[in-house]
Amino acid sequence: MNERTRREFLIATMAAAGGALGLAGTAGGGWLSNQGLELEKRRLGKTDMRVSVLGFGGAEIGFNRTEQERVDRLLNSAIDQGLDAIDTAECYADSEVAIANAVAHRRDEYYLFTKVGHWPRGGGGEGWSTTSVMETIERSLKRLKTEYVDLVHLHSCGIDVLERGDVIDALEKAREQGKTRYIGYSGDSLAAKFAVETDRFDTLMTSISFCDQEAIDLTLPLCRERGMGVIVKGGIANAVWRYDSKPENGYHVEYWNRMSTLGYEFTSAENRGKTGPEGPAGIALRFVLGLPGVHTTVVGTTNPARFAQNAALIEAGPLSAERVEGIRRRWKEVAPESWVGQV
Ligand SMILES: NC(=O)c1ccc[n+]([C@@H]2O[C@H](COP(=O)([O-])OP(=O)(O)OC[C@H]3O[C@@H](n4cnc5c(N)ncnc54)[C@H](OP(=O)(O)O)[C@@H]3O)[C@@H](O)[C@H]2O)c1
Repeated sequence: MNERTRREFLIATMAAAGGALGLAGTAGGGWLSNQGLELEKRRLGKTDMRVSVLGFGGAEIGFNRTEQERVDRLLNSAIDQGLDAIDTAECYADSEVAIANAVAHRRDEYYLFTKVGHWPRGGGGEGWSTTSVMETIERSLKRLKTEYVDLVHLHSCGIDVLERGDVIDALEKAREQGKTRYIGYSGDSLAAKFAVETDRFDTLMTSISFCDQEAIDLTLPLCRERGMGVIVKGGIANAVWRYDSKPENGYHVEYWNRMSTLGYEFTSAENRGKTGPEGPAGIALRFVLGLPGVHTTVVGTTNPARFAQNAALIEAGPLSAERVEGIRRRWKEVAPESWVGQV
């Protein structure tokens, strides 16, 4: 089982068990534009999409099998508040279906991103062939009740698959056929760097947070040079500060261990309960959205109130340069080479 599958499998398992310092931002402060009425939108690289800086990550509603009525409320209210970037994948259980049930009737109000590579005719495992990619896209279009998606990402394949090139050919064919408007790579570390350097993708989706900083030097500058769109996943670091001790959810353990070693004061026992823009969630989101070249961060949630809360947190705009320097300095002091981007 590769690393991506392992981490996403862990989310699924836990759900089943019950469970550079240039600072972006609008003039005068926050990431709400039009006098605070609308979330800031950024052009996603060279694409024609202007995406809200806060996007929605669809893994959690899928793996947690969130009730449809809750997904309806969550997505419709978020779109009403400016959300226009919805990310899902072929293998997040029935996330695609739930999203379509909730908001297919509003299809012209948001951009829809999905992924391929983990649905070899429903048999489990991975499917990195031309046929599998084409079949998966057809399946996603049906499940999403749409004639096209805006973006399909290769779902974290390795360098071997990228080198072969056939699945990238398949994605390009799907783009030519109008099934997707753009194509991207979702993944991390050296595979993400390799993908960017093929110059065949419009976007990179990758992990960046105060617990996961490899991409800041490894791939972000390359994406900026190429005008690629950058979608951050895990920007809130799985909100691991909420755990008093090592989390049972194996997917969250790596970031929890890193957070403990990093020892940032904003995740300390005294500060981790803070809920405003200077609390851990606010700092996490403001850190990521202030990095040059980042266009949006997709945050996973099953909570219908979360989008508004997170939008309020980023209203404060970029972190101070001193704070950003502190987060970067500490990482450089303690991060071993093994702290690569987490798929
Ligand atoms: N390989 C890939 O392509 C890949 C891998 C991982 C993720 N992704 C994408 O990225 C998305 C997000 O990444 P992720 O799954 O790693 O999760 P994440 O966004 O880092 O963390 C999600 C968790 O954060 C909590 N949360 C959100 N805002 C919060 C706040 N203000 N305060 C406290 N907790 C908060 C949510 O809990 P509540 O439910 O309580 O809000 C949820 O449990 C996924 O949904 C998926 O779309 C892609």
